[in-house]
Order: sequence, then C-alpha cells, then structure tokens
Amino acid sequence: MALYKEMTTHMIGVGGYLPERVLSNDELSTMVATSDEWIRERTGICQRHIIAKDQYTSDLGAEAAKQALQDAGLTIDDIDAIVVATTTPDLIFPSTASIVQHKLGGKDFPAWDIQAVCSGFVYGLAQVDGMMRGGMFNRVLLIGAESMSRILDWQDRSTCVLFGDGAGAVVLEARESDPNHEGGMIGSVLHCDGSYRNLLMAKHSHPGAVPGEDAANLYIDSAGVAAVEMKGNEVFRVAVTKLGEVVGEVLDKYGIKQSEIDWLVPHQANIRILQATAKKLKMNQDRMAVTVDRHANTSSASVPLALNHIYREGKLKLGQLLLFEAFGGGFAWGANLVRWSKD
Ligand code: UT7
Repeated sequence: MALYKEMTTHMIGVGGYLPERVLSNDELSTMVATSDEWIRERTGICQRHIIAKDQYTSDLGAEAAKQALQDAGLTIDDIDAIVVATTTPDLIFPSTASIVQHKLGGKDFPAWDIQAVCSGFVYGLAQVDGMMRGGMFNRVLLIGAESMSRILDWQDRSTCVLFGDGAGAVVLEARESDPNHEGGMIGSVLHCDGSYRNLLMAKHSHPGAVPGEDAANLYIDSAGVAAVEMKGNEVFRVAVTKLGEVVGEVLDKYGIKQSEIDWLVPHQANIRILQATAKKLKMNQDRMAVTVDRHANTSSASVPLALNHIYREGKLKLGQLLLFEAFGGGFAWGANLVRWSKD
C-alpha cells in the first residue's frame, strides 16, 4: 500500500497589479448622473483603476503573478500549475490561465480558469488547497484578475460606479505537515445557491449561446458586449446575511474562536457590507483589510489585492490567523482560514 505524506498548503509569495488609469468619483460624475457624495456614502468607494485600451485581463494577471513570484524568490520554472479566477477572460477560450502561462514564459504544466465571479479567489484557494493536500502539485500560482470595466454599462449609474480593474496573485507551496510548526491553510467552506442567479448577472453577448426566451432579452451595450445587471439592494441584503453565516460556519468547522482571528480579508464590494461582517465577528475595523475606497469592487481580484495591501504595509506577522471571505453572482460565496507562515 502506498504511503502518503500529509501535506499543508502555504502562501509563500504575494503580488498585485492595478492599471495606471485612475477614475475618480468626480470624473465619473461628469459621465453619468451620480455624485462623489452618493458613491462615498453608499459604498465607501472614492476611485477605481481602469484597464488601458491595449491591456487584457491576462496582462493584469501576469503582472500580479510576476510580483508574487519575485516575492517568493522563484521563477516561472518553479511552478507546477497556474489557476486564474476570472469573470472577464480575454477570450471565451483558450483560458486566461493559458495566456498568462505564455506571457510568463511557462510551458508544459497545467493551467486553467475558474469562474465563481467575486468568490473566484476564495473558490480557487479551496480547490488548489485540496489538490495540493492530495499531492498533485508542489507550487501553484493562483491569480484573481479582472477587467470589470469591459462588461459595464457606463450609462447605468446603479452598476458602473461600483467596479474597478486589477489583479492579485499568490504563490502556494505544499509542505509536509509538521505538528510542531503550525501554519498554512487550515480549510475552507464554499456555497452556491443558483435560485438567486437573476439578481446579479452579465448575460452572454452571443445570442446563439442563450437558448429560449432569454435570447430575446439579451442586453447588449454600445460596445456590443455583455453588461453587468444587478438588483443592488436585494444583493446587499443576502450578502450581509450569507457572509455573516459563512464566517461563523468556517470557524465552527475548524474549531476556532472568533476572538482568535487576527485579520479579516474580505471581498471588497461595499464598505457597509465589510463593516457588517466585522461587527458580526466583533472585530475592530483596524483588523480588516480595506481597499474598496481606492480599488472599488474588482470581483475575483479583490481578496488577493486586499491581502497584498496589508502584506505590503508590513502588517502580517508570522502565526497570525487570516479569514478570507467573498460573496457574488450565482450567488456563490465562501470563506478560507489561513495561518500566516511567511516571514
Ligand atoms: O460583489 C458582488 C456583490 N455585490 C454587492 O454586494 C453589491 C451590493 N449592493 C450594494 O452595494 C448597494 O445596494 C448599492 C451600492 C448597489 C446601492 O445602494 P443602496 O443603498 O442599496 O441604494 P438603492 O439601490 O436602494 O438606491 C437608492 C437610490 C435610488 O433612488 P430613489 O429610487 O430612492 O430615488 C437610486 O436610483 O439611489 C439611486 N442611485 C444613485 N444615485 C446616485 C442608484 N445609483 C446611484 C448613483 N448615484 N450611482
């Protein structure tokens, strides 16, 4: 009988990338009937970054990945797989991960995308962790990368003010579990309830791809691509409830008290949603990673960008307990627990 070593997944490199162009609330107010005051009060957003005309999601992902590799002291030759969480792939196919692999100069190792919208990174971390524990890979690049500005209706003030572009990445490494050296991924919980699918969506831009009556209702914006549609206040209510539940669930599952959490690293949709989750966990807001004010909602990139932010500020200390959570279209939501093991 084969003997398997027990493996633990560690985060050994962190990176992020934001496109240069910054779109402030004031500038946005000249494009659509909104105001800096409304956006700040209702969402906490002050500005967002917007991808350049000649950039793609894969470019953002590759830049974030380069920084994460450098941080880990590795090159692409040390990597066994690339997983890109994205809702805004460069193309329908091939995967954005395969394009990122090529842009990084990698070859011959697996690369694939996952799609769980704003929960993509949290889903990806759970998936890759499971594969690494199972001995499938030693080192994986996990990237969340989005160009949400490409799927927004810039005439719709109820959605276009909320999103931004960017990418975050982590290098994950499987190490033999050591009972004397606590650290690394603890575990995850994931959920999806497709009965909520119509509250937040971007319909397909190709009429032939959507069967039946939906085809007649396709929203195609001026650029001829799909656009985000959202029933904001209904999404808000469910998000607050489900995130409150899922953070409790992941703590119960792994026998951890909420007072043990050092950092909440949440999906950055709306400062009021972040605050509600922190309140539920009885956490001070200075223990929460916040980027929504500068990045807005970057979908699957928001959690790794928030992680990158507190990491680069030197706030993460060896042995600290991090709770990641996210909620988005599907609805799909989830949470991961990680004990920080990087010096
Ligand atoms: O990441 C995926 C998950 N997404 C989310 O979690 C987003 C969840 N939802 C939200 O964050 C909030 O619901 C929004 C920020 C989208 C909206 O905030 P709200 O407090 O729920 O506002 P509302 O949709 O109820 O709209 C209130 C008013 C409306 O006007 P009336 O009908 O009261 O006259 C809207 O027309 O605000 C108006 N409005 C705006 N006004 C100025 C909506 N968008 C804007 C805008 N500027 N950009």
